[in-house]
Amino acid sequence: MSIDNAINYDDLRKLAKLRLPKIAFDFIEGGADDEVGLDRNQQAFRDTPLVPRYMRNINGVNQKTELFGRTYDHPFGISPTGLIGLFRHGGDLMLAAAARDANIPFVMSGSANCTVEELGKTAPEHGWFQLYAARDEKISEDMIRRADAAGLSTLVVTVDVPVHSNRERNTRNGFTRPLKMTLETRLDALGHPGWLAEYLRHGMPVISNWLPYAKAGASADDVGNLVSEQVTAPLTWDNVARYREIWPRNLVIKGIMHVEDAIKAAELGVDGIVVSNHGARQLDRSPASIEVLPGIVAAVGDRMTIMLDSGIQRGSDIVTALCLGADFVFTGRFTLYGVSAAAKPGAVKAIDIIDREVGLVMAQLGAPDIAALGEEFLYKPMPRNY
Ligand SMILES: Cc1cc2nc3c(=O)[nH]c(=O)nc-3n(C[C@H](O)[C@H](O)[C@H](O)COP(=O)(O)O)c2cc1C
Repeated sequence: MSIDNAINYDDLRKLAKLRLPKIAFDFIEGGADDEVGLDRNQQAFRDTPLVPRYMRNINGVNQKTELFGRTYDHPFGISPTGLIGLFRHGGDLMLAAAARDANIPFVMSGSANCTVEELGKTAPEHGWFQLYAARDEKISEDMIRRADAAGLSTLVVTVDVPVHSNRERNTRNGFTRPLKMTLETRLDALGHPGWLAEYLRHGMPVISNWLPYAKAGASADDVGNLVSEQVTAPLTWDNVARYREIWPRNLVIKGIMHVEDAIKAAELGVDGIVVSNHGARQLDRSPASIEVLPGIVAAVGDRMTIMLDSGIQRGSDIVTALCLGADFVFTGRFTLYGVSAAAKPGAVKAIDIIDREVGLVMAQLGAPDIAALGEEFLYKPMPRNY
């Protein structure tokens, strides 16, 4: 199969798996502990049926969506994923460019392999910056200042990494710093020559935004170690309040799962939250984000923008989240598999697949535009003895 023949998420996943060695592919696909959260994220969508309304004379659907006063062409964007350069050299900016061309937002990871300054040049209107707060507050504040200077519209603070989680695939595969190059890993890499050629040419990618805070002449591993030491900072609401003070534009908290935390975010004047369980990569026993979404929407949906990610593998998942009250939805692995498999054309392909699937489901439901999506399409079982 080539990227041109890929028709869904699973095709992109398979193509990425073909191109990447196991050590890299497992890093993307894997979850934490027993990986029950991965299944739960998917199952929760599948357990939420949508009920179509017919004969509404729908003549095409319009996916345009307002978010923070800007109109995007679709109700979905690209979640931040770190270390993209290990899967595809230059992949961050390829995703950013694909997002810009499709008029959707792209969130650059706090452990990206490109800088906020580069993002500001490639996708000034569509690039958002995700911050992993540093133990040394001066680093966080400097990054925020740089994102501001780069003209980026939205700062996303990820709060669901209080510790590095237990990802057993990575431990077994030797996904450590430096990468453990066992005989098995080397032989496996030889079976993925496209990836290997890139890795040999460019080496381990640097987490570029952090380079200025590392010692002079720091290697990619030195910078990686600095990030690891710094990012499990004891983050509190005081940090969020401080970011609110110094960040002049849209402030988003990513990783909110509890209603009380959503309320607290709203009280602090945060503009939006991403309801997310980090794609089941942090707390394996967490509910799916789609399961906690309705409670959060009921509590704070009228006070701030509610976005969601985790487990999106079909356009119908996105439509389901919108019907349940999300204002916008993000995908992590969907687009990451695309760019890993086939560079920018792979990212474009992923966006095209999602676009097509969202459009088909909306037309099938009888929803001409995003505003039409709501409770009407949610299945409410009747008591059996009616
Ligand atoms: C390989 C990989 C790296 C990730 N890196 C980050 C990151 O640097 N920052 C962050 O906030 N979330 C990160 N995430 C989580 C994503 O932003 C997102 O929450 C998750 O992928 C959504 O689930 P999905 O992959 O099922 O769409 C990462 C996810 C993956 C798969």
